Amino acid sequence: MDVLLHSGSRGSGQRGKGVGCYVTDEQGKEYLDAVSGLWCVNVGYGRRELAEAAYEQIVELAYFPLVMSHSPAIKLAAKLLELLGFEGKVHFSNSGSEANEVAFKIARQYHSQTSNNSGWRYKIISRYRAYHGSTMGALSATAQAERRSKYEPLVPGFLHVYPPYCYRCPFGQTYGSCNIECATSIENTVIHEGPESVAAIIVEPVISGGGVIVPPDEYLPILREICDRYGILLIFDEVVSGFGRLGKMFGHEHWGIKPDIITLAKGITSGYLPLSATAVQQHIFETFLDEPGTTGHFRHVNTFGGHPASTAVSLRNIDILETERLPERAAQMGAYLMAELSPLREHPYVGDLRGKGMLLGIELVADQQTKEPLAGEKVGAIVAYCMNQGVIIGRNTNTVPGYANVLIIAPPLVLTLADADVLVTTLRQALDSQL
Ligand SMILES: Cc1ncc(COP(=O)(O)O)c(C=O)c1O
Repeated sequence: MDVLLHSGSRGSGQRGKGVGCYVTDEQGKEYLDAVSGLWCVNVGYGRRELAEAAYEQIVELAYFPLVMSHSPAIKLAAKLLELLGFEGKVHFSNSGSEANEVAFKIARQYHSQTSNNSGWRYKIISRYRAYHGSTMGALSATAQAERRSKYEPLVPGFLHVYPPYCYRCPFGQTYGSCNIECATSIENTVIHEGPESVAAIIVEPVISGGGVIVPPDEYLPILREICDRYGILLIFDEVVSGFGRLGKMFGHEHWGIKPDIITLAKGITSGYLPLSATAVQQHIFETFLDEPGTTGHFRHVNTFGGHPASTAVSLRNIDILETERLPERAAQMGAYLMAELSPLREHPYVGDLRGKGMLLGIELVADQQTKEPLAGEKVGAIVAYCMNQGVIIGRNTNTVPGYANVLIIAPPLVLTLADADVLVTTLRQALDSQL
């Protein structure tokens, strides 16, 4: 537990302020923010050096477009590729949704420019329960019925397959005696759709907003094999799982496989300024090199994407993550939290406890045998109880009708042991309060 020994900061108690893992409201009440804002404030609140990085950059060069370039964006692109461990190129945007839109456009254009049946590989496969953003393309990949309803019909060409959800296996199997049907069945979908029509598969290494769904170890390597077999691009949406959240700098490192395209946001600046990135492998980039006046290059302009201040902040943020070994800390503190929460498995409302690193989910049920989801009002009351006690926790919402029953814990990676204990105690009391 060596990386846990340095102290995280407690809150300041000053109204409207954030320090470490704590935020204070206008009445001066302090809260332990166990969801890091929207799972993004990875280095914690109140980091002056990030404010200074933005200030210094704005004084030096406030704005310049990436249709040309500027120094912090160039340095950040190089740093991201070094961390990802691959040769390639990076495109910057402002949000996770946009980063995914860029990934979809690149995937379709890549196939249009490289396949024999030019223009036909357009389908994008994602998993039910996954969230990939709010814009029309990203929402089309988002396979959460409640989030899509009233905005449909969405963009054509997006398909959904079942998630690797062992607690409620869509294939009626039990892990250990199954054939990882959640992964292998995707090959059937590809075959039935016609492999020549599928451009990409997009996955989060661990489904986050859809209810913290951790795949079995075999799942992602099998997906990589399927993509390789049929020439499909594998996109990792690491908007949540990047920058230490799962206990490694990037979530996919847990499985030792490489994506063709990866999207990053949230923790890229720890939420201090808007920024996102879409990184592609070099072999993909090279298919976009063309002559002036033709359409082979990527035609996607973004005024604010890769803003000098955001990229400067990101560089400093990554420096903090590395210097303070926060991904490692997330692994250790995540294991501690999991161990401390484990006795809750006996609680009548706890159906499943799962997670990786500092992303944990507690699936609540009315009955452990039937797995009937706990009523929404009770789940809401548990979240409200925690809030009342000064602890902010998350919950999956607008996912699958009747299944907003997963509590989500994703604190800043600087969480201390004392904070973790407060969190666990409050959660236990909150669950008991609804018995
Ligand atoms: C996995 C995932 N992808 C994409 C997004 C969209 O990011 P943004 O809200 O920055 O557009 C989110 C947002 O929560 C997300 O959780």
